[in-house]
Amino acid sequence: MQCFDFQRERKLRVNSTLRSMLSENVLRPEHLIKPLFIHLENSCELLPQLPNSMVFSLNGLLSHIEYLMKKGIRGVNLYPKIPTVEKDNLATQALNPEGVIPQAIKLIKANFPECLILPDVALDPYTSHGHDGILDKNGNILNDDSVEIMAKQSIIFADAGADMLAPSDMFDGRTRSIRLALDAAGHHYVGIIAYAAKYASAFYNPFRAALGNSALKKLDKRSYQIEPSSSRQALDKILIDLNEGADIVMIKPAGHYLDIVAKARQMTNKPIAVFQVSGECAMIKIAAEAGLIDEHNAVYEQLISMRRAGADLIFTYYADLLF
Ligand code: PBG
Repeated sequence: MQCFDFQRERKLRVNSTLRSMLSENVLRPEHLIKPLFIHLENSCELLPQLPNSMVFSLNGLLSHIEYLMKKGIRGVNLYPKIPTVEKDNLATQALNPEGVIPQAIKLIKANFPECLILPDVALDPYTSHGHDGILDKNGNILNDDSVEIMAKQSIIFADAGADMLAPSDMFDGRTRSIRLALDAAGHHYVGIIAYAAKYASAFYNPFRAALGNSALKKLDKRSYQIEPSSSRQALDKILIDLNEGADIVMIKPAGHYLDIVAKARQMTNKPIAVFQVSGECAMIKIAAEAGLIDEHNAVYEQLISMRRAGADLIFTYYADLLF
């Protein structure tokens, strides 16, 4: 047998037909979920830091979903923008059945029954302090009271027609409480996509600004979100959420946490989602606007890396760029 001292491995890459035949991962529009912000005003408000994102009116929301559906993007993750005067310490508006999110869910379901509706479940858009739950007089999270409110919020969204709920808070026991509440209300087939490994990240600020919490740049959520240096805590939390009844687990942010995605992929056969968060998208957009990188190529490379690491679904403000 002849022994080669080197291999001409480039034979596999010499033309585009071979390259595409041998490509190992694909990105299709149905892998992508677009996060959308909605308010009860009549106008749409541009969010210049985020690609193709606005705070939509209910009418504007419908035309944007029509445009997404035409591109093959069939899932939306909904966030409310609540006027500052309506926010309070107890997140009262979170339980308003006539609030912006229940209204939006009903409208989308009536007009686009094939669109998968995944509302965010957490209290931060509704609290004056910007935390995901309610606080005691010393400023500590009241874990179980917050979870109880989120379970009620989940039922309001499921009653309105949500397909899956996306709790993004990281409080203990929320997945189990939401599952029990859904089943008790007869919503046996409404699923839970649990933000299981959500890190305390510096990359959430453009999102907080979009919700009107720009004054809260230094908001400290480290008592519930995971410390970026940890991986075992993240994997442990994924197992806990799966045991509590999560149907899909989320890792967030995406780009800097692909090691966690790859490990989670080895650990569970359940679907995995990642969230390319506001700051990750803003960095690409601003670098592209400065002429430093090619936006399409950069976004494709990031999204296909998430698929390569093992993600089934990707939540991204860039959902509509490539298709
Ligand atoms: C909080 C929440 C956050 C995001 C979605 N839901 C951030 C936070 O913890 O303040 C971030 C999304 C993004 O940055 O795109 N429930």
